[in-house]
Amino acid sequence: MHDDIHFYEPSQGHGLPHDPFNAIVGPRPIGWISSQDAQGRLNLAPYSFFNAFNYIPPIIGFCSVGRKDSLNNIEQTGEFVWNLATRPLAEAMNQSCAMVGPEVNEFELAGLSTVPSRVISVPRVAETPVTFECKVTQIIQLQRADKELVPSWLILGEVVAVHIARHLLKDGIYDTAAAEPILRGGGPADYFQLGPEALFKMHRPR
Ligand SMILES: Cc1cc2nc3c(=O)[nH]c(=O)nc-3n(C[C@H](O)[C@H](O)[C@H](O)COP(=O)(O)O)c2cc1C
Repeated sequence: MHDDIHFYEPSQGHGLPHDPFNAIVGPRPIGWISSQDAQGRLNLAPYSFFNAFNYIPPIIGFCSVGRKDSLNNIEQTGEFVWNLATRPLAEAMNQSCAMVGPEVNEFELAGLSTVPSRVISVPRVAETPVTFECKVTQIIQLQRADKELVPSWLILGEVVAVHIARHLLKDGIYDTAAAEPILRGGGPADYFQLGPEALFKMHRPR
């Protein structure tokens, strides 16, 4: 039992030096999303309000807090790529979140190269070992409990093609830690990196 509790209602403020919300719901996987507009102008940006939501078909989603280039592009073309953010690519991922206009290609800004997709038109990050080609399924504007709309959009997409660097498949089993994924914590700068020491196993009760 915990009797010394900091309680707050978010609508009234958290009363702390930093909002703990992101640090509590964390670390989160990163949706490193490439997209392009109707004219083919390329874009790359990280989204940590990101996760997987379904197996068959595989569906992933991320939330654009405010109207951003990725959302505009995906509305125009219906396509995006998810790129795995790894420890060796952390600095490039960070560079790609720069607040720049739609005319700026964040691949160039971050020193990354592109590789064509096979099913969709949006290119992938060449340097990352895992990518998903996605077709948008739903774009849902979020709302408060009282139904008032908020300027945030959940973008959901079906994964229509998967690319995995074969060295991450050990006897055919995908090795999550070997890919060295990075995860987002709270505050302005906290990240976590995954290695084999983070793994433990627990089977479901029968
Ligand atoms: C690790 C990380 C996670 C982020 N997560 C989000 C997110 O979940 N939603 C969001 O709207 N912005 C998020 N941002 C900020 C966007 O990446 C940033 O606004 C970016 O400029 C948007 O790019 P775009 O306009 O090209 O889509 C995140 C930034 C970083 C570095």
